[in-house]
Amino acid sequence: MNEILEQAIDGVSRLSDLRLYGRVKAIQGMLVEIEGLGACLSVGDRCHLEARNHTPVPCEIVGFRDDRALAMPFGPLEGVGLGCRATIGESQPVAFPDNGWLGRVISAFGDPIDGGPSLPKGPAAYPLNASPPPAHQRQRVAGKIDLGVRALNTFITCCRGQRMGIFSGSGVGKSVLMSMLSRYSTADVIVIGLIGERGREVKEFIEEDLGPDGLARSVLVVATSNESPLMRRQAAQMTMTVAEYFRDQGQDVLCLMDSITRFAMAQREIGLSAGEPPASKGYTPTVFSEMPKLLERAGPGIGEGTITGLFTVLVEGDDHNEPISDAVRGIVDGHIVLDRAIAQRNRYPAINILKSVSRSLPDCNRPAENEIIDKAKALMAVYEDMSELIRLGAYRHGSDPQVDEAIRYREGIEEFLGQEKGERAILQDGYGQLAKILGISFEDPDVSSRNLEAVTPEMASIDSVPSDFAQASEVPPEGNASNASTLTSDVSAIVETVIEPSETSEIDTAPTTQEAKDSVPLSSDGD
Ligand SMILES: Nc1ncnc2c1ncn2[C@@H]1O[C@H](COP(=O)(O)OP(=O)(O)OP(=O)(O)O)[C@@H](O)[C@H]1O
Ligand SMILES: [Mg+2]
Repeated sequence: MNEILEQAIDGVSRLSDLRLYGRVKAIQGMLVEIEGLGACLSVGDRCHLEARNHTPVPCEIVGFRDDRALAMPFGPLEGVGLGCRATIGESQPVAFPDNGWLGRVISAFGDPIDGGPSLPKGPAAYPLNASPPPAHQRQRVAGKIDLGVRALNTFITCCRGQRMGIFSGSGVGKSVLMSMLSRYSTADVIVIGLIGERGREVKEFIEEDLGPDGLARSVLVVATSNESPLMRRQAAQMTMTVAEYFRDQGQDVLCLMDSITRFAMAQREIGLSAGEPPASKGYTPTVFSEMPKLLERAGPGIGEGTITGLFTVLVEGDDHNEPISDAVRGIVDGHIVLDRAIAQRNRYPAINILKSVSRSLPDCNRPAENEIIDKAKALMAVYEDMSELIRLGAYRHGSDPQVDEAIRYREGIEEFLGQEKGERAILQDGYGQLAKILGISFEDPDVSSRNLEAVTPEMASIDSVPSDFAQASEVPPEGNASNASTLTSDVSAIVETVIEPSETSEIDTAPTTQEAKDSVPLSSDGD
């Protein structure tokens, strides 16, 4: 048997080198027709065109016409003409991600573009166009993730492994919100795909928004708007591939993509070039089949790790029913709607709470937490219904107690929802802050234990702290709207006051709820 094998090996080694190649037969726009390789290639395969100056131009096969393969280039077609050679490349493009990729900025091909050294090659090949894990083998979404943005944490709570869309028209604050998420969220690893965005924004994002600490736990995949549609599409796929690698290491990954619309536009360009018929708003059918394939890759894995995905969607003409928004909304597990009208009155992030949904709510919350957010939402809904009349001065105070209440709490809630770009919010603090604004008593075991952890054990045993905190929480918001941002320090102050053993009498001097109410002047908006 060995002898036969040896003879076979000998025979193969004596064969002369064989290289298959085809020839460019036609070029139309970005589409190159290749003759001679039709039988050896399939859709999605790679090939290389040899330009007249001998530089290789990588291409992907996007279709076939008669017996010719249709290829699209990843770069410019300069120097490619009729008769140029086309050689076969890899059939399933892969990447070899590694922990050493953290802190780096890479291209759609996984090459470093931050001027740093070459990237280490990981042990396993990860396909760029991988399929999502089988649905029945996936874990369920895990506990809550702290996104560092108060309005999201409290009203549109996101769980580990959840996928959310951030929807807005142009210039309403998607990228800024994304930068806040990348800096403040508590994920182990952050993989950020900047797909088809402005080149100017990339450096700004890295240096100002992410900063050295943020970058150290992130991998950035960048394809700017000037790059070819194949590069933009592949950058989105590379983003998911890198996220999958870290998920398979058991990490909680936050995958941020700005924007999924540019991915869809890239796929539209590819489809139209390959001769697909345009369907809705010029988007070709493959756009709507590729988007779920990409977005489904985020989510829980088979093992421990998760990919929490947040994808921005540029809503064309502020029409939230345009085809891409509609398609993404149907795929993801929740949507965050940014509203131009809210941005125009300078409340950022301009999240429209009533139009946004997280599908892990209310199940991921405790009943007491749901009670607070339900009350706040009800007040917001009442105000929203009456806002025109209130603004015009057509509403008379006292006509409807519900509307009076909504007006009274309006300022406090708005203050709560606003957040400076440089401010970090903590998930578990949000409920206490909102409860205080709404005058609801709320006792959060997590906050209490966290504050008590900071003090000595005998002080921590003073059990009056949580109830005092609850009393303090009942102070109504009038004239105290700014309390939302300073509440954490207020709570600490209360805890400090209460736990000082030599000043235990202070506990008695803290105002009761009624006294506190009496001492706060009511605004003319109120009663
Ligand atoms: N949290 C914020 N605080 C203050 N200003 C903000 C905030 N968010 C957004 N803005 C303002 O809105 C502008 C546009 O924001 P951003 O670039 O994030 O919008 P975008 O939705 O990503 O726009 P595009 O669709 O054009 O990419 C910013 O330049 C800034 O002036
Ligand atoms: Mg943007």
